[in-house]
Amino acid sequence: MAEITARSLQVLTRGEQIRSAVLAARNAGETVGFVPTMGALHEGHLSLVDAAAAECDRVAASIFVNPTQFGPHEDFAKYPRDLQRDLTLLRQRGCDWAFTPEPAEMYPPGFSTSIDVGPTAAPWEGAARPGHFAGVATVVHKLLQLVPAHCAYFGQKDYQQTLVVRRMAADLNLPVEIRVCPIVRDADGLALSSRNVYLSADERRRALALSQSLKLAESLVRAGETDVAVLRKRMLAHIASVGGVAVEYIAFLPEDAVVETTRIDGPVVVAIAARVGGTRLIDNWRI
Ligand code: PAJ
Repeated sequence: MAEITARSLQVLTRGEQIRSAVLAARNAGETVGFVPTMGALHEGHLSLVDAAAAECDRVAASIFVNPTQFGPHEDFAKYPRDLQRDLTLLRQRGCDWAFTPEPAEMYPPGFSTSIDVGPTAAPWEGAARPGHFAGVATVVHKLLQLVPAHCAYFGQKDYQQTLVVRRMAADLNLPVEIRVCPIVRDADGLALSSRNVYLSADERRRALALSQSLKLAESLVRAGETDVAVLRKRMLAHIASVGGVAVEYIAFLPEDAVVETTRIDGPVVVAIAARVGGTRLIDNWRI
């Protein structure tokens, strides 16, 4: 069925090709939505394509495993890649353009510029993964130059990334609206992630402790608990009872801030990072 309704997908590997295609659409009066990804697409990514298609006349997605956002000991080399499958999924979801550059197209010899977003990028993921957000901010800025869309779509799954991208876009006057879409989860609560394929069946079961602990925090807050120290302790106790999950951080962040609160007195995002076996997972929950 999907194939019948599918629009034709143009696959472009050169920056100048995607840029002229998008500019031509803009000049014809069409609105353009853009979904940057690193491929290995799942329903989380595709929900962003759906949101872009619902709001914009045309949709572009990029598939680029960006080397500069991976640390030297991270999983760049083994990051899952399946371009043909990704393109089929994008075609089925009505995407108009897939931009699939080679690393040399994005980082020609001599490339040396990097965007430092400052305090928003420093703690939590930024502390755990030095250089990560400079790599993200730089590549997102470059992608937005090559894909001059009206709106760009990001997932709440990578919460601090959305703050970093918003800060960068505002500070550097990028003429694009940044949209953030909800986390897509499996039926059992695990947030979809390209890295979930690394998990064994046993690790996947243990990984549920992340979303379970976030839901626990929400129910405790609903029951009147406001002390972050108590909430964190209860979350850690639950995760310890499951076993096999090494928590890196649990952060209680007032909306749009990266400095932790000690008391819940308004909306917060509870963000968690943990290792399950060799796999690093992140998740978060708005309370
Ligand atoms: P990637 O991890 O491929 O994710 C692409 C987009 O999909 C991000 O905005 C991410 O937050 C979103 N996403 C991932 N899992 C999701 C889920 N379960 N529900 C909703 N959205 C989800 O994030 C990146 O790539 C890169 O850092 C990138 C922005 C492309 C720059 O290289």
